[in-house]
Amino acid sequence: MHHDKIAVVDFGGQYAHLIATKVRRLRVLAEIRQPDDPVEAFHGYRGIILSGSPSLSSFGEDSDYTKAMYDLDVPILGFCFGHQEIAKHYGGRVVHGGREWGHADLHVAGDHALFRGLGPVEQVWMSHFDSVVAVGPEFRELGYTTLGGSGAAHRFAAIGSDSLRRYGFQFHPEVDDTRHGTEMIANFVLGVCGSTPSWTMAEYLEEQISRVRAQVGDGSVFLLASGGVDSTVAAKVLAQALGPDRLHLLHIDNGLMRKGESRQVVRTLGALGLDSHLTFVDASDTFLTALAGVVEPERKRRIIGDTFIEVFDREARRLGIEGHLLGQGTIYPDTIETGGTKRADTIKTHHNRVPIIQEMIDAGRVVEPLADLYKVEVRELGEQLGVPHDLVWRHPFPGPGLGVRLLCSTGEADREHFDEIVPGVAAVSRRVGLAAVPLPIRSVGVKADVRSYEHPVLFVGGADWEALLQVAGTMYKEVPHVNRCLWWRGPGAPTAFRPLAATVTRERLDLLREADALVMDALRAHGLYDAIWQCPTVLVPLEVDGRGRELVIVRPIHSERAMTATPARVPDAVLDGLRERLLALPGVSGLALDLTTKPPGTIEWE
Ligand code: XMP
Repeated sequence: MHHDKIAVVDFGGQYAHLIATKVRRLRVLAEIRQPDDPVEAFHGYRGIILSGSPSLSSFGEDSDYTKAMYDLDVPILGFCFGHQEIAKHYGGRVVHGGREWGHADLHVAGDHALFRGLGPVEQVWMSHFDSVVAVGPEFRELGYTTLGGSGAAHRFAAIGSDSLRRYGFQFHPEVDDTRHGTEMIANFVLGVCGSTPSWTMAEYLEEQISRVRAQVGDGSVFLLASGGVDSTVAAKVLAQALGPDRLHLLHIDNGLMRKGESRQVVRTLGALGLDSHLTFVDASDTFLTALAGVVEPERKRRIIGDTFIEVFDREARRLGIEGHLLGQGTIYPDTIETGGTKRADTIKTHHNRVPIIQEMIDAGRVVEPLADLYKVEVRELGEQLGVPHDLVWRHPFPGPGLGVRLLCSTGEADREHFDEIVPGVAAVSRRVGLAAVPLPIRSVGVKADVRSYEHPVLFVGGADWEALLQVAGTMYKEVPHVNRCLWWRGPGAPTAFRPLAATVTRERLDLLREADALVMDALRAHGLYDAIWQCPTVLVPLEVDGRGRELVIVRPIHSERAMTATPARVPDAVLDGLRERLLALPGVSGLALDLTTKPPGTIEWE
């Protein structure tokens, strides 16, 4: 069957595939193209969308792409970097400056097909350093932005030329934080490009089944089943494609699982009929030995990834199935954040993209039936395949498990750029009248598509949620090298924070497991579990009271695809009750809530 198609040009932004999935949810097939593909590769599409990029258009970075695409007689729409490139190509000007992060209000100029059905002011999401400051003769401004009623306008947030059918948005309509971004993309894909919606998830499943059969031939697949939605749905697709006899599942307890989780996973896989060939192995000693003494987040990730493979190989040999291909429930964000597409910056190495696995992928030894999908699509597919609702809608849990929620430290204060931060934080704190303390540790984040490893700032006091979030926004904007803001939840008011020497140990993991179980119980008991996307509990080796006890940070967030996130509000009474239960655990000295959006923080701390 013929499907209308849209090409999404991947300039390496975190969101290129997000654009593709948004288009596909309109039932129009979207395909990713590389910027330097020959112009013929851009033929046959109803329209082209140019993604954002970590590169700076103002400095001409990444400007050597296939510009002949602009000669094609199809509509083209650019987002962020793509918007700036379109502006430049047709005689406009882009400068380095005018950066914006997070929400802004887009004021739409008059009627335009791209904003059909929308209001005169729309909430949009910004993440950029460069801005368009002038457009070419055939273009006009379709909208400008202001931030939270501050009055100062950013011009040319949306531009267009109806005669050329070329358009640009400085903001990111593909992320859920642009409230009507899907409608804007629909207006382009279905309206301006005139595509007919015809592509479905059932069809995707059929395609994957054929692809798996072609790749595996007469062979068999060995899949690491974590018990999460991704590997479970991948197992169902593989079982459907190959039959249960050619699929062997391995569940590894890596010592980084949640409380009681491995037992539950084995039960669930059995209930799903996926246990014809299921092996369970407790490898926690192997993992903890490999992680002993390690502090640096990327090293922890690599070790966890490599140890998975080591245990997997050992089990494969023991079971005599070394020749099997490796199955993985990799989903798209795992790939893009490892720098898996040509131009994306490496934010963090996902456990299923470590170098050994990459070599196996290159050798055609890895089967990944979900690699093009985002979580929400995996869930849709899971429901189609009869995976129970509770499992399908379980909060995502990262492959490296609690290993990325157990911050480690040498015990020395981390002073990288710290002294530069102190005056900036103090200035914002004085101006807004809220105590704010920069912390001498760092965690992973992402800013304008690039990995950051920077300090958090802790707010002490303050009660108004919206005001706290605004101060956080101001902090990231005004103080470089800050990528998170936290809110102290007691007990009392801390005065000093001292890092503790701490690495990955069974004792710390047991403490984190207990803390995590208390947090999950509290969310479920108050009906909050289903309302939020995910809620990491993080153990942070900072002492506040000279007794060698650590901080617990709770990070409840809203998100749809994990590419962006906003902090989820938890009622004060729930947090107070939770704090008391956490403080009853031996080794916990206080509770803080993470208020950070993504960007500039990632969901996990590492
Ligand atoms: P970040 O921290 O990058 O997380 O904002 C985005 C989403 O991905 C999950 N996550 C992982 N999932 N393997 C996974 O399967 C990983 O290595 C990994 N790291 C992060 C994280 O929990 C969040 O949902």
